[in-house]
Amino acid sequence: MSSTLLSTTTTFDKGLAPSYQHFKEKYNLECLVDDIKQHLGESGGISSEEVDEEYLISLARKYISDPSDWIEYFYNDTSKNYTRNAIENINHKANILLLVWNPGKGSPIHDHANAHCIMKVLAGQLHETVYYAPETDSKEAKPLAIKSANTFGMNEVTYISDDIGLHRVHNPHPTQIAVSLHLYTPPNAADYGYNIFNEATGSASYVSQAHSVSKKFGLFDLLGEDVDHPL
Ligand code: SIN
Repeated sequence: MSSTLLSTTTTFDKGLAPSYQHFKEKYNLECLVDDIKQHLGESGGISSEEVDEEYLISLARKYISDPSDWIEYFYNDTSKNYTRNAIENINHKANILLLVWNPGKGSPIHDHANAHCIMKVLAGQLHETVYYAPETDSKEAKPLAIKSANTFGMNEVTYISDDIGLHRVHNPHPTQIAVSLHLYTPPNAADYGYNIFNEATGSASYVSQAHSVSKKFGLFDLLGEDVDHPL
């Protein structure tokens, strides 16, 4: 009797639309990834200009951090500022990553390679400093000007693109790590590279690829030479 019930339930569940299934269960990381895939289209799909970043931000807000969802992706290299763990690569549509930030450490000032970037804090706190991008035709060395600065706590979400400016993120806590979820669409930084900037002069240096590691699939060898300032 119980096995009949179980198989009926399983068949029924498989036939449900993903969004209906989310009402039945907690909106976990898997639901979030499924909804992102559905919006972007796993293959073919929509172009970057058609991405509704407000919708993607609302999905990121809807997900409530639960370490049991993301611990399988968590790997921290304590010798690095932060570790980029791959969660999902949506067929050149997007990258979803789990970043682990060592205490007091952060990213360099960088652009977003013409992509949308959504960041959600999953544990601890992260401080984001947004800078005005330097004028592209200016050869003059000029310090970058700060546009805004904010600290985000657990479950808070922020968004940036090159239209907004450049940014750097760091973990302000002296002893505790922070963890964040990042969505990049399209994954241009990983596919084509990005720029990091000198705060004092505004000069840009091109980094050819943003690397990530995969604890889930044992791909630790993907740690590249630029891991001290990966994007
Ligand atoms: C950040 O936005 O500072 C994190 C960049 C990254 O994905 O490495």
